[in-house]
Amino acid sequence: MDQQAGAYIVGGAGNESSMRANREAFEKVRIIPRMLRDVGECDTQIELFGHAIPSPFLLAPIGVLEMADAAADLAVARAAAALGVPFIFSNQASVPMEECASAMGDSPHWFQLYWSKSNELVASFVRRAEQCGCSALVVTLDTTMLGWRPRDLDLAYLPFLEGKGIAQYTSDPVFQKMLDDMAEDPADPDRILNLQSLQGLITMVNKYPGKGFFKKLRSGRPTKAVRQFVSTYSNPRTTWEDLKFLRELTKLPILLKGILHPDDALKSLDAGMDGIYVSNHGGRQVDGSIASLDALPEIVEVVKNKVPIIFDSGVRGGADAFKAIALGATAVCIGRPYAYGLAIAGQEGVHAVIGNFMADLALTMGLAGCRRADEITSECIA
Ligand code: FNR
Repeated sequence: MDQQAGAYIVGGAGNESSMRANREAFEKVRIIPRMLRDVGECDTQIELFGHAIPSPFLLAPIGVLEMADAAADLAVARAAAALGVPFIFSNQASVPMEECASAMGDSPHWFQLYWSKSNELVASFVRRAEQCGCSALVVTLDTTMLGWRPRDLDLAYLPFLEGKGIAQYTSDPVFQKMLDDMAEDPADPDRILNLQSLQGLITMVNKYPGKGFFKKLRSGRPTKAVRQFVSTYSNPRTTWEDLKFLRELTKLPILLKGILHPDDALKSLDAGMDGIYVSNHGGRQVDGSIASLDALPEIVEVVKNKVPIIFDSGVRGGADAFKAIALGATAVCIGRPYAYGLAIAGQEGVHAVIGNFMADLALTMGLAGCRRADEITSECIA
């Protein structure tokens, strides 16, 4: 990846202590293999919201995948569909959800939402997700503001300001209507014109849908889209009360992503949510946050199997998935590793990463004496 993509994808918040904590938490949990249990056939299949999936893996929502590979979300969608692994489309995707959904056919896909300042836009995203066959909605709560990320700050770089990662917006009728109603870009005497800002402008215009560079530039819509995105993408004033709006809006199962405290897990259940997604966003939001894996057991204890628990942050192989499941996760999401696969070899790279995780988990299960995913319990670990 180029320097900017590397910084954005690899990096985390602050001194990246949460990223280290995620890994250290996995190191502290050890598997205790059991012998002579007839593991000739291992079945990794699980059921999630009434659908069977081949193994307890999903692909986490990752924005701006065009930084890793030009085919971006489309390459990931195709690889995930080939293996029947659910792909959670990011709110910050580089390809509109409808295109990815049609590339996936009947293979399961979910949509991840950031709660925008405009409820009309939220409703439009949810409607589109329903229409393109998403079978669940993940609402990410931990990114009401972007974390302090020194690797990006050092490069003075944020992909969204170049119009990258805003395809769900520019393809949305409500968002387009907002642009119609927007005032022209005010002339800013302090605006710095240099090579970086010029390149940024060119990228922004190229990224905007439609043909004709100068036509798009003259329309002013590419810059308006970025300005509108920046001012509305997230609403830090959102509270638990607001979930009512979403609950009434859709019958799709809703999961809340970013839950790290057992009380927040209980509040999610009270709000009628259908699943909990334990995650510290791969250590990208709060430097010094509790590791996701360390947060998991207490959440599992209070949720008492009432709803599925999805887990991510720091999963780097089959054994990590095994450990998270032993601690009570229903399924785990692969994050950065598939983005790395995408950067190295596009669709094939993503396919290889997912395939390797699945094979690694199946082997770990067999060698640990588990024939089915539901046999991976707290008894299997120390
Ligand atoms: C993310 N993540 C994320 N989460 C989300 O809900 N919406 C998003 O758009 C993004 N975008 C995003 C971009 C990049 C580059 C990364 C690395 C991560 C967080 C993601 O879903 C997941 O929680 C983490 O990636 C898990 O941590 P690891 O396993 O990747 O370290």
